[in-house]
Amino acid sequence: MLNEVGTAVPGLSVTPDLIRGPRDASEHRGFLKIEGLSKSFVPGKPVFADVSFTLDKGEFVCIIGHSGCGKTTILNVLAGLDQASGGHVFMDGREVAGPSLERGVVFQSHALMPWLTVRRNIAFAVESRWPDWTRAQVAEHVEKFVAMVGLTPALDKKPSQLSGGMKQRVGIARAFAIQPKMLLLDEPFGALDALTRGTIQDELMGIVRQTHQTVFMITHDVDEAILLADRILLMSNGRENATGYTPGGIAEVVSNTLPQTRKRAELHHLPGYYELRNHIVDFLVTRALAGHESNP
Ligand SMILES: Nc1ncnc2c1ncn2[C@@H]1O[C@H](COP(=O)(O)OP(=O)(O)O)[C@@H](O)[C@H]1O
Ligand SMILES: [Mg+2]
Repeated sequence: MLNEVGTAVPGLSVTPDLIRGPRDASEHRGFLKIEGLSKSFVPGKPVFADVSFTLDKGEFVCIIGHSGCGKTTILNVLAGLDQASGGHVFMDGREVAGPSLERGVVFQSHALMPWLTVRRNIAFAVESRWPDWTRAQVAEHVEKFVAMVGLTPALDKKPSQLSGGMKQRVGIARAFAIQPKMLLLDEPFGALDALTRGTIQDELMGIVRQTHQTVFMITHDVDEAILLADRILLMSNGRENATGYTPGGIAEVVSNTLPQTRKRAELHHLPGYYELRNHIVDFLVTRALAGHESNP
């Protein structure tokens, strides 16, 4: 079941996707394929089951759902850091069987090495990705990505000397610097104050547009999903009911038809915004914890 939510924008032409190219170009389709994924920590009570979806190359997909429904578990399986109990994940036609520098991960907490400077934290990842590079090549690459997140003045500082927002930017720069085929972001802005969060969301949006990244991101912030995502997966929690236990799963896939040039500050002026937002909020309030429809 694919629900198309949001309306065409009257009086405003939707900007063609000049940057990423046509979304339906066949070589871009199904770049990441998730088929029938399930995960049980307790036998017979999978956290989620029958989770299937795809991401096209260059697509930004958010997953939204209440705490405990299994979002991080799915992301860890996509990253190759955890194993599913059932189902398969394919990236670029190959099954994901373990962690790889082809996938960059930004965790909820920034996961920097506290004894290394910003420069060394990122250089460490870059050197692992391109072991043959000279020191000058590594330095140039690191500096480019640090500049991209506006942290050049902090290059030689250690994480303890940085604010939460700055640390999270280092994590983002590090993930982008290894130029992964796909980025996996687990509530990367969750711990930030609203102001910093907004700035970094705008930055991330700009960088993703520039670099044509394919992104899978977890969030619990509806506006963040609407700002960033091309499609939003709505995930329900597993629950006990009269007939027994129903695992969690993807209840619905919402396509975001707001113009791709959308900006955070003007979201609420866009026709279709409130319908989209209300639809997602209604899902979270009334359906996410009350079982879910069968998977598409
Ligand atoms: N290693 C683990 N052992 C046992 N239960 C776990 C483990 N990891 C996650 N869970 C359980 O699986 C469910 C989903 O967790 P998680 O994927 O972190 O949810 P979310 O990210 O959506 O909040 C939770 O109920 C959590 O307690
Ligand atoms: Mg989580």
